[in-house]
Amino acid sequence: MINSSKDQNSNPSTSSKQMLIGLHLGNGYGSQPGAWRMPGVDPESYTSFDARARQAQAAERGKFQFIFLPDGPGAVMSDIATESPNFNLDVMMTLAAVARATEYIGLVATGSTTFNEPFNLAKQFKALDIMSHGRAGWNAVTSSGNDVAANYGRKIPSSEDRYGRAHEVIQLIQALWGSWGKDAWVHNQHTGQFAKESQILPIYFQGKYVGSRGPLYIPPSEQGQPIIFHAGGSPNAHELAGRFANAVIGSAFTIEDARAQRHAFREAAKRYGRDPDEIKYIPGLMTTIAKDRRTALDRRILLTQHTFGQRVSYLQQMLSIPLDAALLDQPLSKQQLADARPSRYDPRSSHALKIAKEGWSLKDILAHGVIDYHPVIVGPGIEAADHMQEWFEAGAADGFWISPDVNADGIDAFADEVVPILQQRGLFHKDYEGKTLREHLGAPDQYGIDPRV
Ligand SMILES: Cc1cc2nc3c(=O)[nH]c(=O)nc-3n(C[C@H](O)[C@H](O)[C@H](O)COP(=O)(O)O)c2cc1C
Repeated sequence: MINSSKDQNSNPSTSSKQMLIGLHLGNGYGSQPGAWRMPGVDPESYTSFDARARQAQAAERGKFQFIFLPDGPGAVMSDIATESPNFNLDVMMTLAAVARATEYIGLVATGSTTFNEPFNLAKQFKALDIMSHGRAGWNAVTSSGNDVAANYGRKIPSSEDRYGRAHEVIQLIQALWGSWGKDAWVHNQHTGQFAKESQILPIYFQGKYVGSRGPLYIPPSEQGQPIIFHAGGSPNAHELAGRFANAVIGSAFTIEDARAQRHAFREAAKRYGRDPDEIKYIPGLMTTIAKDRRTALDRRILLTQHTFGQRVSYLQQMLSIPLDAALLDQPLSKQQLADARPSRYDPRSSHALKIAKEGWSLKDILAHGVIDYHPVIVGPGIEAADHMQEWFEAGAADGFWISPDVNADGIDAFADEVVPILQQRGLFHKDYEGKTLREHLGAPDQYGIDPRV
């Protein structure tokens, strides 16, 4: 079951270890609005499984440990007149296509514990694990928002019910994964024994929210069973991840916030008798990598200038001063800078003010990505490497999930301009340690339910 001797990361500080890197594959174009219209981008990437396979191959060339596909489930189509939906056509089908085109990289997708039957999730993720020879990871999230629930004809349940169900769904799925014993599949053509019947057993799981008789009909993969990821920020999320997850897909704008989140997940793992190093906290990082800051800013302007009108009005709230969208080419005046106060309602505001005080024009301030979903690097590769090193060594991250601005060339830019610097600094591996996701993460062996939790 659990073999803790395989967990080599017993040092609670991150300094002696190497970081993990994941790639956010998203809708196939990239993380910036306008990515689908960039020169050199196939405008049909949204429906192209070949494009996803190529992008995953680029990440594998950069030795990324995994790719990550978020899922709505059920994208909101508010900007559909001008923008692609944020999500994938179907995360499992995409990962199946990618599995056949890659050899090492881990394949992680979101699967909602609220809007799926556990038996279906169990078979899909374990089949992907078999197909990819042990590279599957399941980002088990509870989902939020009534717009998602509406696609299932429902209202979003309370946090208590979402997380109550999630605890049961993960246990049930891990029980199903373990219901086909590790050595049960014999497939001996001479003796005629296909499998050991005594090692393929029902699970008879019945909880408050979900149940299953089992067994599942799928044998173990090279890594036994898929790895559990989680994404969520509430105390209930800490508890769920602390109990089950080997990695957390996070979101944090400052080192202090990331450290606090990482600490909360590690403490939760300890409460379940686990080694805190078994749970890796992986916040996001968005990138526009170019030869210098000016070139990178110009690329971001080309990508996102159609949003600037709307973003200037939001920036006014972040800085608590009036701004004029007609003066995009000018820096803020001395008076504006003197009056500006970072909003306490948006954690990105202090950083936005810092950039404004450096004297950049209004459009350059926006092009720095001060209103994006994660910290943003707009500049040469060394700036990304410095950011990652600083967070990693401060105990704020065990790795990063990278959202390039445009996938068609942004993944290659990261692999060519950032990865070699991290490798030279000894912060990132030079090659894959093995072929399974469990090996890439240094996660302990587990088959079936972890008996400690
Ligand atoms: C970094 C990050 C990534 C997330 N990715 C997804 C996702 O792919 N699909 C989804 O339905 N929800 C996703 N969520 C939302 C979570 O499922 C959850 O509903 C949300 O964080 C609220 O959870 P809470 O009740 O713990 O605060 C994500 C959350 C975070 C912080």
